[in-house]
Amino acid sequence: MSHNTFGHLFRITTWGESHGPAIGCVVDGCPPGIPLTVEEIQRDLDRRRPGQSRFTTQRREPDSVEIQSGVFDDSGGGQVTTGTPIGLVIRNTDQRSKDYGDIAAKFRPGHADFTYEAKYGLRDYRGGGRSSARETAMRVAAGAIARKVVPGVRIRAGLVQMGPHRIDRSRLDWSTVDDNPLFCPDPGSVEPWSDYLDEIRKNGSSIGAVIEVVAKGVPAGLGAPIYGKLDQDLASAMMSINAVKGVEIGEGMAAAELTGEENADEIRIGADGKPLFLSNHAGGILGGLSTGQEIVCRFSVKPTSSILSPRKTIDRHGNETDIVTKGRHDPCVGIRAVPVGEAMMALVLADHFLRHRGQCG
Ligand SMILES: Cc1cc2nc3c(=O)[nH]c(=O)nc-3n(C[C@H](O)[C@H](O)[C@H](O)COP(=O)(O)O)c2cc1C
Repeated sequence: MSHNTFGHLFRITTWGESHGPAIGCVVDGCPPGIPLTVEEIQRDLDRRRPGQSRFTTQRREPDSVEIQSGVFDDSGGGQVTTGTPIGLVIRNTDQRSKDYGDIAAKFRPGHADFTYEAKYGLRDYRGGGRSSARETAMRVAAGAIARKVVPGVRIRAGLVQMGPHRIDRSRLDWSTVDDNPLFCPDPGSVEPWSDYLDEIRKNGSSIGAVIEVVAKGVPAGLGAPIYGKLDQDLASAMMSINAVKGVEIGEGMAAAELTGEENADEIRIGADGKPLFLSNHAGGILGGLSTGQEIVCRFSVKPTSSILSPRKTIDRHGNETDIVTKGRHDPCVGIRAVPVGEAMMALVLADHFLRHRGQCG
């Protein structure tokens, strides 16, 4: 069985382990003639890359991507996609497998060690092997290509909650996300959250977070009833990211507290003669189809499981033991999940854009 492939018409297959020689991805179904440079992919990868601030793991992975196939020179001297599979590779350069030697036989609480062993009977324990979030680098690389498939779409994401602290939405400014190491869209939260996270980090602990992803400029009608709804596919895509434990679209769980009057997004005709929604509680999706409004999705990321406090566990021989996870880890993996969330939104939209075009023209 193979479940390393995502998407239907815009389809990615990722491969590789955290401490293997390389990780990679095949992007299949990308339309031909789309200008694409390695620098464009690298730009997105650099946002996810570790070691960029004191809040992300100090592993020094340059994450330099190579395009192995699927592009060719166009007549204007640039490079475009050819419509054939695009092969992407990142060589792993900063593995310290010895950091993981003492957990070879122990199951780290909160990690996939126990379940991989229960399923396969063996596991690559170095850095979590295939279960490592190193795999998400390939999603980000593929997402950089997917962003170019749907014309006019702008995807942004940011940290809107860290632990118990939520952003002040009156200060929300998406243009500031890349100005701070937390990818936070509320400039007023950056300093207090940084102090808070410093304390967590110094204590060798970790904390969870909520990420909001917003796609603007999505045309109405993307999505495929009944079992390929846009919200359904987005929820699946976000939930497939490591450490994600909850996904919401629009009001999400809070919709349960609203009345029908409060929740219904009323419609008028705007000054441009087009439908104008007076609110967006639905998060830009009705009946599994995009409305043309912003698509709003949030997901929660659990606190990093690798912490310095000893935890109770068992080993693969059935003995009870304690474990301290050494190695280099982020105090809040939610931060580096921000570009990954953007990439998953781009992958879902590119796939649905091509599927919609295939059926409806
Ligand atoms: C970008 C990113 C980086 C991550 N880095 C770490 C890490 O350094 N240490 C850790 O314990 N978990 C890390 N995780 C989470 C684990 O990969 C994840 O918790 C583990 O594979 C178990 O899977 P699950 O939490 O989805 O059930 C990271 C997650 C993401 C999205």
